Amino acid sequence: MATVVAFISEKGGVGKTTASYHIAIALNRFHQKKVLVVDADYQRGGISGRFFPDLIEKFASGESPGTTLFHKYQQLYSAGARTPDVDIRQWRDHSTTIDVITADPRLSTVSTDRLPSTNNIRQNNLSLLEHMQMIDYVLTPLKGGYDYVVIDSHPEVSDVLRSVTYAATHCVSPVKLDRQSSIGVATIIGEINNVNADVEMISKSLSKVDYQDTQFSGSIGMMAREWGGGLKQTEQTEYNRLRRTGGVFDNYVTEGDGLRQAAAGRVPVYDITGANADKQSGQFLDLTKEFLSKCP
Ligand SMILES: Nc1ncnc2c1ncn2[C@@H]1O[C@H](COP(=O)(O)OP(=O)(O)OP(=O)(O)O)[C@@H](O)[C@H]1O
Ligand SMILES: [Mg+2]
Repeated sequence: MATVVAFISEKGGVGKTTASYHIAIALNRFHQKKVLVVDADYQRGGISGRFFPDLIEKFASGESPGTTLFHKYQQLYSAGARTPDVDIRQWRDHSTTIDVITADPRLSTVSTDRLPSTNNIRQNNLSLLEHMQMIDYVLTPLKGGYDYVVIDSHPEVSDVLRSVTYAATHCVSPVKLDRQSSIGVATIIGEINNVNADVEMISKSLSKVDYQDTQFSGSIGMMAREWGGGLKQTEQTEYNRLRRTGGVFDNYVTEGDGLRQAAAGRVPVYDITGANADKQSGQFLDLTKEFLSKCP
């Protein structure tokens, strides 16, 4: 049964997509894990575009081919028959195979406000629960076929993020090592606790839910800056603060050109040559080993 790990953060541009992409590839290429990537980011669809460049233009014009998570929420809103099937696209290179549920910009319209409302409190709470369970409902029949499901997301607290959090067994939070990050991480941990507490309440009062609390496995330092072989002093201070805010991965990734070149070429940094790329590749390999132990 797959371990489901969500990459979430309150802030944009902190390296969620870069981290989830490289860890997903390393899990398959270097650890022979079967990996499904779910792109829940309706703002950029960054990881879908990284795997399938043909999707970038479609995404920008508001389209997404095939059956996506969006259609599954629509089924709830129209109170019609529900089916968990979505389209899965496969990405392969010389030594890696990754399955992907690609992004749909229309997920930005997902909201519990669109659920059919009744004057029955019990019924309303159950449909709120079904909304939160939507991604889990889609993943349940698929989980037996994978070791890891990696979910990339948008930087915003939303009803989609609540579904992502419900579906996840573990969450990690990529961060830049600045003061804003530790504040953002506290918000994210608060959201995870909200989802866990809501399920507990419903489980006690309305219907028993088969659910394990989602764990926060730690922040991941991205775009870190070093000085003399260690983190710069201000970044070390933030890193120490993050240790007290839900924990932080020992391994981090430094800021540098290797990842920029990899992004421009739409390949993983493992395929780029050069001193900086080698360093960042090594960092992602160490990070992936730690990921395997923190998100078993
Ligand atoms: N360590 C790094 N060194 C240099 N550039 C990096 C590094 N990590 C990420 N980047 C670049 O920073 C930009 C933002 O990263 P990324 O898209 O992974 O962030 P994100 O959190 O997914 O953003 P969003 O919230 O918009 O989805 C990208 O252009 C990426 O290539
Ligand atoms: Mg992203």
